Amino acid sequence: MKTQVGIVGAGPAGLLLAHLLRLRGVESVALETRSREEIEATIRAGVLEQGTVDLLNESGVGERMRREGMPHEGVILRFGGQSHRIHLAELTGGRSIMVYAQHEVIRDLVKARIEAGGEILFGVKDVSLLDFDTAHPKIRFHDAAGATRELACDYIAGCDGFHGVSRPSIPSRLRREFTRVYPFGWFGILVEAPPATEELIYAYHERGFALVSTRSPQIQRLYLQCNPSDETSAWPDARVWEELHARLAGQDGFRLSEGRIFQKGVIAMRSFVVEPMQHGRLFLAGDAAHIVPPTGAKGLNLAAADVRVLAAALGKVYASGHGDLLGRYSETALHRVWRAEHFSWWMTSMLHRFHDETPFYHRLQRSQLEYVTRSRAAATMLAENYVGLPFEDN
Ligand code: FAD
Ligand code: PHB
Repeated sequence: MKTQVGIVGAGPAGLLLAHLLRLRGVESVALETRSREEIEATIRAGVLEQGTVDLLNESGVGERMRREGMPHEGVILRFGGQSHRIHLAELTGGRSIMVYAQHEVIRDLVKARIEAGGEILFGVKDVSLLDFDTAHPKIRFHDAAGATRELACDYIAGCDGFHGVSRPSIPSRLRREFTRVYPFGWFGILVEAPPATEELIYAYHERGFALVSTRSPQIQRLYLQCNPSDETSAWPDARVWEELHARLAGQDGFRLSEGRIFQKGVIAMRSFVVEPMQHGRLFLAGDAAHIVPPTGAKGLNLAAADVRVLAAALGKVYASGHGDLLGRYSETALHRVWRAEHFSWWMTSMLHRFHDETPFYHRLQRSQLEYVTRSRAAATMLAENYVGLPFEDN
């Protein structure tokens, strides 16, 4: 088998890259270890930045998102029993966010890819990346039927997430990794209930952080700070509701609507970056290169921003033979990555309870929350990062 760009992984990064490359006339083949049904059913992120929304619309895959997604012009920070609204659109010159689940984006991209006659090989195994420090890289794998196959390509895009094979294929002496693991996780649930709020609520409370998000008028997505080693069995429904009610309680009468919980899971919280994001003809994008804690809602958006840069750079190579953008891919992508890393760490630090901290730290968190909700300058800082800074064209 032969193609121009071999893509490892059909998550948001890999699928969007394949789509953007096709629009630039560049061929690709994507290899994915899981099945189509699995990737289309995995529950993950829910918030799209303005730039991601624009990218999906401009590239022709935004039709269902425009119909079913929920645009939000504000976000709520809740502490001391009161809600404080950050008016995202007013503070950022009209930019806002869209609540539209990651697996819906995946479904739209898979559909577009298949309709365009593009190849996604699902259910592959034992993927290895070869010769990417030469002009003739190859990807060797077992296909779904168990046959050994080899894909020869000009470039490899490593879009296989944090646990994939691409990043570790780069010799360890040639990469530098930056990591922070947080001493807590998020317990996430999906609930059949009407929305309790029109906008997302990020709540700071002495019992820990809570987040109220949504998926549709009938389904809500809620999160609670938890112990990172908790099993879902540690969170029977009654405990989930008790904690959520306690952490969101206040004098304003706000009350969550309870409903049937039909999905539960624990999410680990980590910050991670690898530098550089390229070696030879291998280019890393999305979670393969960086992880953020979900508090800033940046994971999926960063994956989209990476492949936007990578598609333009590869497109330029094929259109004009100029490799300048591709040579600078890592540098360009890392600029945005580190901004999102800082924002995600900052939101996480401001909103969670750390077990080893002193009352001094709690007072600092309260002061920070009050400042961010009272000062227009501070609120603008939060808002412009949350909706996503405009892309810097390279
Ligand atoms: P992924 O989505 O991880 O996709 C990588 C793909 O590669 C997968 O489909 C995988 O099966 C495939 N793959 C792996 N290894 C191989 C291999 N060897 N060969 C071929 N294919 C391979 N972000 C938020 O902003 N908010 C959230 O609430 C949130 N929740 C999350 C919950 C969980 C459990 C996780 C893991 C992440 C969450 N994130 C969240 C982060 C966000 O979902 C990711 O940033 C986003 O999925 C990154 O996309 P990606 O394409 O880079 O990687
Ligand atoms: C979600 O809806 O899943 C979601 C929203 C905001 C976040 C993280 C996750 O910061």
